[in-house]
Amino acid sequence: MTQSRPFVADGAAGIVLPPPRTPAPREAPALNWGVIAPGRVATEFVKALRNHTAQKVVAVGSRDAERARAFAERFDIPAAYGSYAELLRDDRVDIVYVASPHSGHFEHALRAIEAGRHVLVEKAFTRNAREAEELIEAARRRGVFLMEAMWTRFLPHIDVVRQVLDAGLLGEVHTVLADHGQAMEPAPAHRLFAPELAGGALLDLGVYPVSFASLVLGPFASVTAVGTKAFTGVDGQASIVVTTASGAHGVLNTTLFARTPTTASISGSRARLEIDGSFYGPAWVRLIGRDDRTIDRFVPEQRDGGLCYQAAEAARCVSAGRLESDLMPLAETLRIMHVLDTVRRDLGVTFPGE
Ligand SMILES: NC(=O)c1ccc[n+]([C@@H]2O[C@H](COP(=O)([O-])OP(=O)(O)OC[C@H]3O[C@@H](n4cnc5c(N)ncnc54)[C@H](OP(=O)(O)O)[C@@H]3O)[C@@H](O)[C@H]2O)c1
Repeated sequence: MTQSRPFVADGAAGIVLPPPRTPAPREAPALNWGVIAPGRVATEFVKALRNHTAQKVVAVGSRDAERARAFAERFDIPAAYGSYAELLRDDRVDIVYVASPHSGHFEHALRAIEAGRHVLVEKAFTRNAREAEELIEAARRRGVFLMEAMWTRFLPHIDVVRQVLDAGLLGEVHTVLADHGQAMEPAPAHRLFAPELAGGALLDLGVYPVSFASLVLGPFASVTAVGTKAFTGVDGQASIVVTTASGAHGVLNTTLFARTPTTASISGSRARLEIDGSFYGPAWVRLIGRDDRTIDRFVPEQRDGGLCYQAAEAARCVSAGRLESDLMPLAETLRIMHVLDTVRRDLGVTFPGE
């Protein structure tokens, strides 16, 4: 891992960034994975598993047999199914990765749970908190592992952030800033603009700054948002202010209309952390003193294949007989879904069939 190099500056003199404790993804016990919905992120996920882990993808399920076959051929996956139900009947599959649009997460994950499979569900976990709660209850009843694929949580630079916060190195934390905006072409057919697929900026991009603020600040005391709708009625842009009982603030933005810096910062009474864009992927972290001088920095060793860390965490948990991960607990996933519900209420956005 990258060594921290201490600099000396102002009130934070002498503090350095700890090295990440993240275990090597390749060392996680191998599970047999089944992939549901072989789209864009499923492609990146399978590439990350092949390049950086010992995990085995043994089956892929698509709504279309030819798409499943092509995906299986591309990645040497032994079994290709023309429906998700068929994949769930394959007893070789230990754990299912659900990579469908947000509108499908609840049903696809529920079917996998009912089939007795462990499940990793893409972010945002579900369309709303009610669905999240039902899914969590179903997994607990069936005794299977369930986790939101909020991949940022498992990255080495976030472990550096966790340790800095746990050690109180920043002093009292007052402000968290984070944004995630992408300049999307306004295409009615794209899932991000489709209300029926639970599109919009918030569930796709905004969940990252919200989840980051939740990691840093803990439960929010209040959530307030303003927004602008896209031409299809989904949320095109949202600016969100969260507060905690102790008076800390999170100021968060998400948009489909522009590429934003995608950076994050945590400012405390003693020092601050700045995470370069894209903060939600493997990124640099800088520790900066009150005099604005950089005290130390963390540089990730691996910039590609960041989706491998969440798979390794799921594999470690399942192999240890655990039903959830401490790094992305289900109670927090549920809390985050409640926050997203509140934001959508403020914005006046609902999804058909919710
Ligand atoms: N972690 C990350 O970095 C990351 C990045 C991008 C997206 N995501 C998340 O991953 C999920 C999928 O995003 P994506 O960009 O991969 O989407 P995508 O490229 O559109 O792929 C989604 C796949 O879902 C399947 N599907 C099932 N029901 C569908 C429906 N009614 N309409 C359209 N497709 C349907 C399709 O596969 P078949 O028809 O072949 O089954 C489709 O290829 C979302 O939850 C998103 O937030 C995560």
